[in-house]
Amino acid sequence: MTKIIVKNSGSLIGTVCCSGSKNSALPILSATILTNGITSLSNIPRLSDIDNMLLILEGLGAKISQNRDKVRVDFNECKGYVTPYEPMSKFRGSFLLAAPLLSRMGKARISMPGGCPIGNRPIDLHLKGFAALGAAIENGHGYVDLSCKRLKGAKVYLDFPSVGATENLIMAGTLAQGETIIENAACEPEIVDLANFLNQQGAKISGMGSDTIKILGVDSLTPTEYSIISDRIEAGTFMSAFAITNGKGIIKNVNPMHLKPVTAKLTEMGAKITEKKNSLIIDATSSLSAASIKTLPFPGFPTDMQAQFSSLMCEAEGTGIIVETVFENRFLHIGELNRMGADIRIDGRSSVIEGPKKLSGAKVTAYDLRGGAALVLAGLCAAGETEIDGVKHIQRGYEHLCDKLHSAGADIFLE
Ligand code: EPZ
Repeated sequence: MTKIIVKNSGSLIGTVCCSGSKNSALPILSATILTNGITSLSNIPRLSDIDNMLLILEGLGAKISQNRDKVRVDFNECKGYVTPYEPMSKFRGSFLLAAPLLSRMGKARISMPGGCPIGNRPIDLHLKGFAALGAAIENGHGYVDLSCKRLKGAKVYLDFPSVGATENLIMAGTLAQGETIIENAACEPEIVDLANFLNQQGAKISGMGSDTIKILGVDSLTPTEYSIISDRIEAGTFMSAFAITNGKGIIKNVNPMHLKPVTAKLTEMGAKITEKKNSLIIDATSSLSAASIKTLPFPGFPTDMQAQFSSLMCEAEGTGIIVETVFENRFLHIGELNRMGADIRIDGRSSVIEGPKKLSGAKVTAYDLRGGAALVLAGLCAAGETEIDGVKHIQRGYEHLCDKLHSAGADIFLE
């Protein structure tokens, strides 16, 4: 079983380059179903979630070619409307196939999604939206059956600004008849990227990035070439790696506007950060102070950075408080950090972290993607060697993580 071995690495110093955004690539790859023709994408990260998405698209009739970060999807014909259980169950983003398949085929049989065990992760908001646009819905045997000859635009209020539900409804409205309005929509940069991709093909989407998105349905889309945004969570993870080791470095291929809440929090803790057009420079050579964090939908502090900051707070001076408001079970990494000598108490949705604590290397397990990244960060500053199991979780969302950290001086390798 593959493991990550990470040793105390001293202060990281160097330059790391971010890959494309996993959470942008998944909806955009799914949206290629809406287009009759050849779509050329770039800045697509090489990750297991992406591999699984491509496998499913091929099974639906797409001809796929991949060369480094370039992916070409030829969807001249869509042969099916059923998504297979096996790859679908491996990641959450698979449910984003629902709207495009339903739009193109008039029906879709979608296996229930998988993904990180960070909470119940229902799909009720997605289904509420599909029903509002006229879809008939049946649930059973681990599948959702959707059918509607042509969706009809409607107004949908999301009880929670769900990223996935917003993305599915944008795709559902793109070829629907009439106007769809999504209220209390998610504002994440990945939503804006999906809308920009669709608009470049002739869709009529406005308001993306705000809590009200309008989509005026069109009859068809024109294939295009598109480069997706970079991964802001990967960038934030690298910033945390320089911070937890009191190092300094440059993070390239990132839009600093996408990381404002993370930059603000690191600055509050004592790091010096300079924003450039496509990169960030961080100097965390002075000691860091603890802080309070509450995860919120964008533009609040991202839940996908919560675990990494749990590790960082172990090394900061004082008592850190982190409240996880988005998912109900996103503290799976805390027990593993405490095995390394951390002093973290969980109280409902809050974690209280005493620092600084001298962590010691140990055998630990990653139970989810970002929790695994948190363990890597802790291993960089713990005394001795840390052996991380559950690497498959980490490889779902980080491209060449060990190589990139190694280039900044980390003593880390896959075994
Ligand atoms: C996306 O998940 C991301 N995944 C997650 O990233 C990210 O943590 C999350 O958005 C929040 O930013 C992808 O984009 C593939 P949500 P998603 O729907 O769409 C509740 C990572 O580490 N909810 O915004 O599943 C849900 O239970 C992953 O890269 C409903 O109640 O997130 C949760 O509490 C982890 N009903 C909250 O909304 C629904 O129908 C946020 O979920 C849908 C969601």
